[in-house]
Amino acid sequence: MNAPAKTEEFAVAQAPAKIPDGVYAETVLAVEHYTDRLFRFRMTRPAGFRFRSGEFAMIGLMVGDKPVYRAYSIASPAWDEELEFFSIKVPDGPLTSHLQLIKPGDTVLMRKKPTGTLVLDALTPGKRLYMFSTGTGIAPFASLIRDPETYEKFEEVILTHTCRDVAELKYGLDLVEEIRNHEFLAEIVGDKLKHYPTVTREEFSHKGRITDLIESAKLFSDLGVPALDPAVDRGMICGSTAMLKDTKDLLEKAGLVEGSNNKPGEFVIERAFVG
Ligand code: A2P
Repeated sequence: MNAPAKTEEFAVAQAPAKIPDGVYAETVLAVEHYTDRLFRFRMTRPAGFRFRSGEFAMIGLMVGDKPVYRAYSIASPAWDEELEFFSIKVPDGPLTSHLQLIKPGDTVLMRKKPTGTLVLDALTPGKRLYMFSTGTGIAPFASLIRDPETYEKFEEVILTHTCRDVAELKYGLDLVEEIRNHEFLAEIVGDKLKHYPTVTREEFSHKGRITDLIESAKLFSDLGVPALDPAVDRGMICGSTAMLKDTKDLLEKAGLVEGSNNKPGEFVIERAFVG
């Protein structure tokens, strides 16, 4: 009698996978796709979940009966009631090939402990804070530029965002627009925030890799600020491994020293995670 056994097997396969113990299971609230490579999503924030703006968390999905996690910078600020993430879509990525299909109402997993070095506490006091980002590396800065503490600690905040093409800049452009129109952030931020978007593979008002723009000093002349000075300038870098290395070399050449949570310094770095 094969028929009943088959029905039973079918029922087991269709049952929702058990959520692992000790992780948060949150509900997707909104999803926005920017290009065929980039999207953002917002989800509920667990009541007990605390993090510092700029940190990352392990985000996951049940794939079959197993959880798959990747590190994701939290793009929303520490005060926000919801959590936001900005993600790449990797066609065969173990997580992102599934994550890019999520819809409002779906469940996303999150491990309980956030961590990271792109936090204000890892920097010594300064006057001007540079945030250098490429691609989804803008995510931790999306958190920090929406945190009032950033503007308490720095007189000027410069966010650079370099992408291949103009469509990939949209997340950052929308974000800065949102801040300028925000009911309480607009006043706190005032004219302290400068956004410097550039692209490398298309025509745009600002063109080129951020490393070339630092080396040629075009970044500084465009912004009307002096060259990098370890006495007043602080930096945070988030991008691909190659971008981190090249940007770090330039900051070190200008005399800035790398810091960490245990030993605050003049700049900090973190990989933009993919997968
Ligand atoms: P490019 O178009 O010249 O490669 P990706 O989407 O591949 O992560 O790249 C995001 C942006 O980072 C692109 O504009 C890319 O420029 C730039 N980029 C890639 N490698 C470096 C690097 N070593 N230093 C600075 N920028 C880089």
